[in-house]
Amino acid sequence: MLSLLFVTLFLVGCSVAKPPAGAIDKELVGIVGGHNAPQGKWPWQVSLKVYSYHWAAWVHRCGGSLIHPQWVLTAAHCIHHRNADPSTYRIQAGDVYLYGDQTLLSVSQVIVHPDFVYAHLGADVALLRLAEPADCSANVKPVKLSSLNLKVTRKDECWVTGWGDLSFFGWLPPPFRLQEVNVQVVENSLCEELYQNASRHRYKDRRIILDSNVCAGSEGRGPCFGDSGGPLVCKVRGSWTLVGVVSWGYGCAWRDIPGVFARVQTYVPWIQQQIHSSS
Ligand SMILES: *[C@@H]1O[C@H](CO)[C@@H](O)[C@H](O)[C@H]1NC(C)=O
Repeated sequence: MLSLLFVTLFLVGCSVAKPPAGAIDKELVGIVGGHNAPQGKWPWQVSLKVYSYHWAAWVHRCGGSLIHPQWVLTAAHCIHHRNADPSTYRIQAGDVYLYGDQTLLSVSQVIVHPDFVYAHLGADVALLRLAEPADCSANVKPVKLSSLNLKVTRKDECWVTGWGDLSFFGWLPPPFRLQEVNVQVVENSLCEELYQNASRHRYKDRRIILDSNVCAGSEGRGPCFGDSGGPLVCKVRGSWTLVGVVSWGYGCAWRDIPGVFARVQTYVPWIQQQIHSSS
């Protein structure tokens, strides 16, 4: 519990102290309204860990998705800086419990999207290359990327998974089991209106929700601190497809405030280019 507490504060920095009223820009780092995920149901879910001298252990910082045996897609804001040393990260794959006794996978390359500045400005995606391809099994399996022309709607079955907070003020307790929640996609234009309203039109001269975002979640259902970088998957013609990467939001699963994700289809050409040019 303490280790997660540390990570949560670490990742969200000063924003926790602000009052929940109005607009708080937050990088989402927990699943609100979820329940325990069965082992093997989300075999692409990984935990991105960083070493904590305080805890003398590799601790959970963010979620991520295995999109290829040797590549993990996460959020750019989960990476300390553009030229982050790959040896400062480890990947845990294949277990619904954080801090099990499984071997952590080493990272050999970190690629932050070149357009990334802040999560709310878009391009909040980063790729991590594993030093060795993961051994695929029933519990470790890459997820299919969204196709370029995929249109997900509120009618599609979509889920968010992660080890993040259970509420704005509540950490995931031991034994730190992966949580899953069924969410509805919110159309971008409606999401924009909801965020404009929530920010009392302070940003009326600019778009808050970009075309490169996808929104999902509702009151009491959605991502929270510690889920950042993790997957939003939807069932498309019978197979799970990676549609979003947990990015940011105002609060966690508050009324009329969906979670905001990086829209994976926007970044598929970039992702494929990186994977091809590195292999
Ligand atoms: C946004 O606020 C306006 C004015 O209060 C309201 O009429 C509208 O229904 C709100 N939009 C949404 C999507 O809740």
